[in-house]
Amino acid sequence: MYRITVFPGDGIGPEVTDQVIKLIRKIGQAHHLVFEIQQSLLGGASIDKHGVPMTPEALRLALESDAVFLGAVGGPKWDRVEPAKRPEKALLELRKSLEVFANIRPVLLMPELVSRSPLKAEIVEGCDFVILRELTGGIYFGTPRGTEGSGPSERAFNTMVYTAAEVERIVRKAFELARRRRRHVTSVDKANVLEVSRLWRKTATAVHAEFPDVTLDHRYIDDCAMQVIKNPGQFDVIVTGNLFGDILSDECAMLTGSIGMLPSASVGGKYALYEPVHGSAPDIAGKNMANPLASILSIAMMMETSFELHEIAREIEQAVRDVLRAGHRTADIAEPGQRCVSCSEIGDLVCGRIGK
Ligand code: IPM
Ligand code: MN
Repeated sequence: MYRITVFPGDGIGPEVTDQVIKLIRKIGQAHHLVFEIQQSLLGGASIDKHGVPMTPEALRLALESDAVFLGAVGGPKWDRVEPAKRPEKALLELRKSLEVFANIRPVLLMPELVSRSPLKAEIVEGCDFVILRELTGGIYFGTPRGTEGSGPSERAFNTMVYTAAEVERIVRKAFELARRRRRHVTSVDKANVLEVSRLWRKTATAVHAEFPDVTLDHRYIDDCAMQVIKNPGQFDVIVTGNLFGDILSDECAMLTGSIGMLPSASVGGKYALYEPVHGSAPDIAGKNMANPLASILSIAMMMETSFELHEIAREIEQAVRDVLRAGHRTADIAEPGQRCVSCSEIGDLVCGRIGK
């Protein structure tokens, strides 16, 4: 039996999560596996009901399950909530509590979607790399942080900080990941300016000595932001800090046609958290038009990484490919003028191909 906690969250989160629940049930039926799914509120939905973005009960559920799925959190409705109680705070706390320091974001372009990328086909064709984003440290969590004073002298500050141990463990994961791929790691930093990046680079170089079969190069974040759209084929595994990884992954989503296609898995030790890379997309929420494929592909990552159900992971990926190959498209990946399928329809189409 596999216990999965599901947090639909806010905006399009509940719609894409519905497709995930449907998919997990279908996998259970088709393959005679028992998945126990428990649901709880997180983010704005939890603020509305309980006054806090994550209750201790919600966190306990997550800590007691074998894997956690999260739809999306946040939205304009909670923009004026005090910082300590914002929806995003729940997500950051959840990541920290689950100790999922390694966020794996595959940037894989499905051949059917080449024409949907805003970049030229000859640039994006065959694009297949992974962003490994450090997820529980860096400027997202560094202290001191805060605001003080008022008027023109009002100040706000954050701290970008990494310890050598934090860099070492994420960089080691990058080399291990590269060993299962094309054996090349690009470490991304801003070592020409930041001390924290100099430590990052020094540590990455030191860890590299243990992986002589993997090549390592270093790039500055600004250069890397350019290279990923100039020549994405040069990358295999990109490893970087929390903030740089956040920005790069949205940029790289454009290589795959839509941010609606990007899944993620966050791992550390004991726990794992699966989330689509996209946010809550309040502008299209409740319209049944979101693309659930990033969430569905995140479940493929869950089957693979948390449960070692490799064949099922491949089956989900294949089902997604087949649905795209058959020409079905949600609005974000549709050709101009094409009839779009809804979020729930594309979810049904994927589920219909499971167990065949
Ligand atoms: C992401 C998101 C989150 C982040 C937000 C919602 C806090 O943008 O997962 O990329 O910045 O990590
Ligand atoms: Mn982001």
